[in-house]
Amino acid sequence: MRIATFVLAGAAAMLAACMDHGAHGADHDDADSSTHGGHDSDGGHTGAPVPEVLEQPPTEGRFDTTTAADLDAAPDVVEVTLEAKQADVEVVPGKKVRMWTYGGTLPGPTIEAKVGDTVRVRVTNSLPEATTVHWHGLRLPAAMDGVPALQKPIEPGATFTYEFKVTDAGTFWYHPHVRSDEQVERGLYGAIVVRDSAEPATTTDRVVVLDDLLVDESFQLAPFSVEEAMVGRQGNLILVNGRAHPIADAAPNGLHRFRFVNAANARYFRLAFGDDTLVWIGSDGGRFNAPRKVTEIMLVPGQRADVLVHAGQQVDVSRAFSTLAYERGHGTGRAPDARVFTLRTRGDAVAAMSVPETLASVVALPEATVTRTITLEESEHGAGAHAGHGGASAEVMGPVFSLNGATYPDITPFEAKLDAVEEWSLENTTQMDHPFHLHGFRFQVVSDAMGKPILEWRDTLNVPALTTVRIRMRLEDHPGTWMFHCHILEHAERGMMGELHVAE
Ligand code: C2O
Ligand code: CU
Repeated sequence: MRIATFVLAGAAAMLAACMDHGAHGADHDDADSSTHGGHDSDGGHTGAPVPEVLEQPPTEGRFDTTTAADLDAAPDVVEVTLEAKQADVEVVPGKKVRMWTYGGTLPGPTIEAKVGDTVRVRVTNSLPEATTVHWHGLRLPAAMDGVPALQKPIEPGATFTYEFKVTDAGTFWYHPHVRSDEQVERGLYGAIVVRDSAEPATTTDRVVVLDDLLVDESFQLAPFSVEEAMVGRQGNLILVNGRAHPIADAAPNGLHRFRFVNAANARYFRLAFGDDTLVWIGSDGGRFNAPRKVTEIMLVPGQRADVLVHAGQQVDVSRAFSTLAYERGHGTGRAPDARVFTLRTRGDAVAAMSVPETLASVVALPEATVTRTITLEESEHGAGAHAGHGGASAEVMGPVFSLNGATYPDITPFEAKLDAVEEWSLENTTQMDHPFHLHGFRFQVVSDAMGKPILEWRDTLNVPALTTVRIRMRLEDHPGTWMFHCHILEHAERGMMGELHVAE
């Protein structure tokens, strides 16, 4: 595996190298970006340069996220307060970035609950603009979904309380659903872990929230620009639980569980652990029926992956998780492989544990009674009001993304009936991959880009460039209005979003 040179120099030097490379990338018009140069508005750039990663050395200190304090004594109620507020976050030793956070930490606190619990979250907005909180992947009443179609955004100084029951074991996450391209990039995200009574026994069970920030020379968030819209804002600093290249200590001989969440706006993490086998036990909607042995896992924005790693017998052995180069369109594959975090054996060895052969009982959905087609489209050189950004007069040049020819909010919603089993054909007509996400329901993959079915529960799925995938879902339990959209947040905010109305 190719790994970018491990740079031990100071962050400033690396940053300079990065800026250089970025400029270089913009000067050289590669074939791919020239055919899609429609977003070139000032003549100076042909295709947004894909920033290099500012690799950091492994860094001691905190690895895990903080856990949200449960303020309700009842055993089946989890009550949490989240204050959305600005905070300076030390992402690299000695480098603090002004972020928007939940409670001052990056990621926000992990909300932990058991299947059947009622979760109540009081959100106070201390940010300079309105926000909402969406509970990505949780199946809950539409009024609690945190989307502006159903909830007036929480104004600065105001408070809103979300309350819902959690029904599925798995790893989920929360983030705003207004101006999400900026608000999520600024740091508004956190994980939700829901456990059931059949969790496999492991030595550790940890959340790994992945992100990338685009920082400038002074190590602050680089300005948001229209050039980012095409491939999405891809950062130059990879963060794991809010820190660049942290070290996860793991007891030798142990079986360690990592619940990955991709909270990045646009970066595809293609995770590998050297040449070692990963035991992949679950994805968005919980555990698979049986473990899968793999050497890499693709985690597109919005998705989760639940992974077990056997630590070796020897103490003080370090091995790194990496993200491998991947071409998702428009030259993105030029970004090199990069290290994500280091796993280090530390402490006393523990007794070996084995991975159970059966983990869950996911049953394939029956044949669909309704079928729909959604085409994913992009057009170049569009000009339009960027609904999410800056109010009525904001005319922004740049690419326009659409579903079935319509750009949100100027869409015709799909009309559906509660309990119907539907099959959706997602046809990507564009030169780039798009991660498709559906709110409120979970789906199964009937046919992936290679024509293969995958029996698992998903709420987010990659639709590779110029391919079609088919998904099937039962519209169960929760009538109302539900969004579906591309989870490259720049695309979603530019209208690559639709609505499903589910009638009782
Ligand atoms: Cu993770 Cu509609 O969002
Ligand atoms: Cu997209």
